Amino acid sequence: MKVRGVFLVAIFFYLAYTQLVNGQPCQTSCGNVTIEYPFGTSPGCYYADDPSFHLICNDNKTLLFDNNMEVINISHSGELHVMNNISYACYSNQRILSDYHYSTYTLRNLSLSGKNTFTLVGCNAFAYLSIFGRQNYSTGCMSACDAPPAANGDCNGAGCCRTDLSVPLDSYSFRTGPSRLENTISVSDFNPCTYAFVSKIDFFHFNASEDLKNLRNVTEFPLVLDWSIGNQTCDQIGNASICGMKNNTCFDSNRGTGYNCKCLEGFEGNPYLSNEYGCQDINECTTNSTIHKHNCSDPSTCRNTVGGFYCKCQSGYRLDTTTMSCKRRDFGWATILLGTTIGFLSFLLVFSCVQQNMKHRKDSELRQKFFVQNGGGLLIQRLSGGGTSNANLKIFTEEDMKTATNGYEESRILGQGGQGTVYKGILPDNSVVAIKKSRLGDSSQVEQFINEVLVLSQINHRNVVKLLGCCLETEVPLLVYEFINRGTLFDHLHGSLFGPFLTWEHRLRIAVEIAGTLAYLHSSASIPIIHRDVKTANILLDENLTAKVADFGASRLIPMDKEQLTTMVQGTLGYLDPEYYNTGLLNEKSDVYSFGVVLMELLSGQKALCFERPHQSKHLVSYFASAIKENRLYEVIDGKMLTEDNQREIKEVARIAIECTKLMGEERPKMKEVAAELEGLRVTKAKHKWSDQYPEETEHLVGVQIMSAQGDKSTTGYDSINNIARLHIEAGR
Ligand SMILES: *[C@@H]1O[C@H](CO)[C@@H](O)[C@H](O)[C@H]1NC(C)=O
Ligand SMILES: *[C@@H]1O[C@H](CO)[C@@H](O)[C@H](O)[C@H]1NC(C)=O
Ligand SMILES: *[C@@H]1O[C@H](CO)[C@@H](O)[C@H](O)[C@H]1NC(C)=O
Ligand SMILES: *[C@@H]1O[C@H](CO)[C@@H](O)[C@H](O)[C@H]1NC(C)=O
Ligand SMILES: *[C@@H]1O[C@H](CO)[C@@H](O)[C@H](O)[C@H]1NC(C)=O
Ligand SMILES: *[C@@H]1O[C@H](CO)[C@@H](O)[C@H](O)[C@H]1NC(C)=O
Ligand SMILES: *[C@@H]1O[C@H](CO)[C@@H](O)[C@H](O)[C@H]1NC(C)=O
Ligand SMILES: *[C@@H]1O[C@H](CO)[C@@H](O)[C@H](O)[C@H]1NC(C)=O
Ligand SMILES: *[C@@H]1O[C@H](CO)[C@@H](O)[C@H](O)[C@H]1NC(C)=O
Ligand SMILES: *[C@@H]1O[C@H](CO)[C@@H](O)[C@H](O)[C@H]1NC(C)=O
Ligand SMILES: *[C@@H]1O[C@H](CO)[C@@H](O)[C@H](O)[C@H]1NC(C)=O
Ligand SMILES: *[C@@H]1O[C@H](CO)[C@@H](O)[C@H](O)[C@H]1NC(C)=O
Repeated sequence: MKVRGVFLVAIFFYLAYTQLVNGQPCQTSCGNVTIEYPFGTSPGCYYADDPSFHLICNDNKTLLFDNNMEVINISHSGELHVMNNISYACYSNQRILSDYHYSTYTLRNLSLSGKNTFTLVGCNAFAYLSIFGRQNYSTGCMSACDAPPAANGDCNGAGCCRTDLSVPLDSYSFRTGPSRLENTISVSDFNPCTYAFVSKIDFFHFNASEDLKNLRNVTEFPLVLDWSIGNQTCDQIGNASICGMKNNTCFDSNRGTGYNCKCLEGFEGNPYLSNEYGCQDINECTTNSTIHKHNCSDPSTCRNTVGGFYCKCQSGYRLDTTTMSCKRRDFGWATILLGTTIGFLSFLLVFSCVQQNMKHRKDSELRQKFFVQNGGGLLIQRLSGGGTSNANLKIFTEEDMKTATNGYEESRILGQGGQGTVYKGILPDNSVVAIKKSRLGDSSQVEQFINEVLVLSQINHRNVVKLLGCCLETEVPLLVYEFINRGTLFDHLHGSLFGPFLTWEHRLRIAVEIAGTLAYLHSSASIPIIHRDVKTANILLDENLTAKVADFGASRLIPMDKEQLTTMVQGTLGYLDPEYYNTGLLNEKSDVYSFGVVLMELLSGQKALCFERPHQSKHLVSYFASAIKENRLYEVIDGKMLTEDNQREIKEVARIAIECTKLMGEERPKMKEVAAELEGLRVTKAKHKWSDQYPEETEHLVGVQIMSAQGDKSTTGYDSINNIARLHIEAGR
């Protein structure tokens, strides 16, 4: 409580000290001059009892206390504008001084400012100025003229001269003294007096016709003095300065000693006071002061802040700082460029999207077109129309196929043949498949593919390569088969490829399987099918060396009511039925002929057509037939598979082969019969293994042995031998 009371009393006394003296408020103005602390008219109102700040107000005139200089303006920043009397020396004749006034001004803690100039007006005259301070300083100038100078306004040494001041620091008094040169010719007529004075720079403008005569009537000129507080700098005084507490700052005085205070930017008031007269925020938006007024082009946008202001633009507008006006947010060049770029990129994006979409549509249209062109509609109709035994046929998309073959990669090619290329494919469920792709641009191949799909869709047989599905969206259709991994019978018999040697047991079984399959195709399938291209290259072997008949591209479905079809002759040379070749009439016996050739290949291990054999024997059928005719069967049999046990069977199979390759189709057995005979051989062979109770067989076996060893003519009839000779002639045509 006590401390607070003391504080309040201190505040009271401070206010009383600054604003009230002897119950009277301090005078705040005199005439036109505003009087503010640290200046004052009464003791207690001005700073520290320093007479420099003591003003006297007399007849609305503000005077400095001790030298009668009239104050016309006081600035907070340390300038005092005062009027000072002119110095003059008047002469009654050329030489006699009649009237004069040389003045010395004591300034105490005020100093003459460098913003003044010293001027002499007169002819053939000189004047001096002495300034007393930390170092004394004197200057002067001289004017010479015998007649009134013509030029007005120029103070250049004729009738008038002036010199700028180099005011010493901490000056405290100055003296001016004009004088006329001795022994001059008379100038008094037009210039009775010589005048000297210190005034604000640029205040006095010399008028030769007026001033040389009557300047004495003017008597006073304004000059600038500097004032400051104390004799210490801001650093030295620190926080003990008299500058107010808020929003102001101290600065070292121009006069070389002491300091002054000023309000911070955006504040106005008396920086030497801390009360409500001290530095206050300027409301730039409402002030009448031109200096502090806001520069927002629209005053309604002005918003005041402490120490400043801003121009608030409504949203969508921005402030243009050069004109301080709100402008609609326009886009600069960078923005335009950016916008254009983004726009262009978006356009490209949209364009490419549309293009992609169109391409996609075009692609899918193309796929649809191919699908239709490839008989997709017909196929689907046929597949869904019932009567199919292979209902699981799947229609693959082009994309499926691409993925499965890794984009038809070259390393995936399993084989390339007349019909096209076969790729190894891996379906999404990791199952391995073979994908057959026909040659491009061969529409007959396309037909064959469709044909094969239709044929295979009718077949479900363990010895027929299973067709899993097809893809019709590509330009040429693709067929997807189960993957048979041990190559073709051709490769096994003639190629170096694929390991195990085919023993007789293998071969006989394979023959049985093929025969059974063909018999099934000819009679058991819902519509009889003629393969038309039976050959070892079209028989695949799986890992158990089980035969799988493949390549139904040339196959024909034969309607039930017709025994044979007239078609374009198709097949492989060496396997081609000569009758079919000659007549173009296709029936199931053509397959029988081809199968006979396959049998011969199995028996001999030789190719169907081999140009390395002697001329007459190029064709395996004629080679085989002539060998049997000449009782040289052992010569053509693959010796490696020959054992003691299998000679009878070999002989039988050779006979069947000859039967099958008879020139006339009618004379050939039906496939069913061939299959039965071969199957019979296999069964008896199996039985034979267990017992030797069949003397007939032994006889046969012996017979073969004799035949093989001696080359004797067998008693067994080979009716086809002659035919084979004829076939050769036929084939050779
Ligand atoms: C105050 O200023 C006005 C106009 O500037 C002037 O007419 C008047 O004489 C001045 N008064 C004093 C006392 O200087
Ligand atoms: C001083 O000026 C005021 C008004 O500005 C006037 O009323 C007053 O008479 C003047 N005093 C003298 C002594 O001229
Ligand atoms: C200026 O001259 C006038 C009259 O001539 C006189 O009253 C006044 O005191 C002079 N001022 C100074 C500072 O000498
Ligand atoms: C005093 O000086 C300031 C700035 O220099 C000016 O605005 C003001 O009008 C002056 N006052 C007088 C009475 O000359
Ligand atoms: C100058 O100012 C100081 C302190 O303000 C004061 O003590 C001193 O008397 C002044 N000098 C003169 C010549 O007035
Ligand atoms: C300046 O001149 C005055 C008067 O002539 C003299 O008293 C003072 O010592 C001088 N000061 C200097 C620094 O010379
Ligand atoms: C100089 O003074 C004369 C007489 O008072 C006047 O007619 C003339 O216009 C003045 N010249 C200038 C430049 O002020
Ligand atoms: C200047 O003073 C002289 C003599 O004192 C007088 O004759 C003359 O009229 C005055 N001129 C002006 C313009 O006041
Ligand atoms: C500053 O002024 C005081 C009294 O006015 C005086 O005692 C002191 O010596 C002065 N200091 C300087 C550096 O002039
Ligand atoms: C002034 O500064 C000094 C240290 O520089 C400090 O001790 C003192 O309290 C300050 N006084 C005021 C009024 O801020
Ligand atoms: C100015 O004074 C105000 C109170 O009037 C205060 O809030 C503000 O912080 C001060 N600003 C500065 C820069 O000192
Ligand atoms: C600005 O001037 C007008 C008259 O011109 C006056 O009414 C208003 O009070 C003044 N405002 C300020 C802040 O000085």
